Amino acid sequence: MTHVKIQTVDQKIRGTVSFPGDKSLSHRAIIFGALSEGTSSFTNVLPAEDCRHTREAFESMGVEIRSKGATALEIVGKGLYGLKAPKKEIYLGNSGTSMRLLLGILAGQSFEATLTGDPSLSQRPMRRVTAYLKEMGAALEGREEANFAPLKIHGGRLKAIRAVLPVSSAQVKSALLLAGLFAQGETSVTEPVRSRDHTERFLKHFGVAVREDGLSVAVSGDQTPRSRNFEIAGDISSAAFFMGIAALLPDADIQFRSVLWNPTRTGVVEVLKRMGVKFRVTSVSESGPEPVADFTVQRGPLKAFEITKEELPSLIDEIPILAALATQARGTSVIRDAGELRVKETDRIHSMVSQLSRLGAKIKETGDSMIIEGPTPLSGASVNSFKDHRTAMSLVVAGMIARGETLVEDVECINTSFPGFFWLLDQLYIKHELVQ
Ligand code: S3P
Repeated sequence: MTHVKIQTVDQKIRGTVSFPGDKSLSHRAIIFGALSEGTSSFTNVLPAEDCRHTREAFESMGVEIRSKGATALEIVGKGLYGLKAPKKEIYLGNSGTSMRLLLGILAGQSFEATLTGDPSLSQRPMRRVTAYLKEMGAALEGREEANFAPLKIHGGRLKAIRAVLPVSSAQVKSALLLAGLFAQGETSVTEPVRSRDHTERFLKHFGVAVREDGLSVAVSGDQTPRSRNFEIAGDISSAAFFMGIAALLPDADIQFRSVLWNPTRTGVVEVLKRMGVKFRVTSVSESGPEPVADFTVQRGPLKAFEITKEELPSLIDEIPILAALATQARGTSVIRDAGELRVKETDRIHSMVSQLSRLGAKIKETGDSMIIEGPTPLSGASVNSFKDHRTAMSLVVAGMIARGETLVEDVECINTSFPGFFWLLDQLYIKHELVQ
């Protein structure tokens, strides 16, 4: 097990940072490359464990994927109907996105496959996808009516459905739209609030017609994507930890380069602005299907914030770092109706409330909400990641403003989404020590 020791940062932090490819986009690039007609090339693909699992899943189904250096991939597409039955179970580690999106694709295949994952993934609810896929005509088996991995799926010709999701989820929406490519008729998905729209953007960019109408999105079957080449935008969810550093440390001067700037993902930026953090966007451009931006972030006196149900999907992965920031904001911050956090890589309400409390934060949970009083000085202590990458990185950032030394236990999980995290801290001369 690897732990990290982190000290109070008392020097001025300055530098220019860029990030490996966004995790959501990297998964989708591999998926769309594999299902396309022709060869796609992508640069700045996230070289993290989660995306490696998606890659290996397609390789095990006969797709040729060539690495071109550390972060570029060339994918020889098989079209919609060219995948082969995998010879063994497909292991997806910690990656919920891999499992849910693959289920959608496997629902359209005429072979059988079994998906497995690590103990955390095996406890995450899958019925939210599998119930709809059964309705479309796929056969699924797994514990508690195909709610938990291992999941055995036998797909085939599907029929289109109109799904109305009770909770917004890009993973569920994406699984159903991908299944829709194999269905007869038009499959539509309606969400209470629009979640990240990467799959819709990728479909269109790869030449598939998509019909959008308010909170609904629909796709008709038998449209084969066509190969594309582009650079994957930097991961805004990884950048959020460095926005947090810029917002917390006095006089920090950090410039951000080529970060994904999709409005369904920039909720964290909007909240930071409400808190009093200043953003100066110096350029916005397009990189394939997605917008990217360069910007600087400057600290201001931090004010407490409330997060509404409506904006939750646009910052769902940034709640852990926002909770850490709230401990230093004046007033009472409230994150409401965040039940989805309980079914992420760990229960992130519990992980953040329990571990920030250990550092001295005034934070409590009531129902599915978190309430944080600030500003509260933090003191170094031993805290635990719960094997969740975003809990781990949020606690490392909290450790930078805690008095004395903070030990964050079990930080290997950071490799699931951001293998260069500690390297980037080094580049900014932020002292830390990895210990076994
Ligand atoms: C993701 C969607 C989100 C997010 C996850 C990645 C995606 O999950 O938490 O890290 O790539 O579609 P939900 O939309 O299911 O909440």
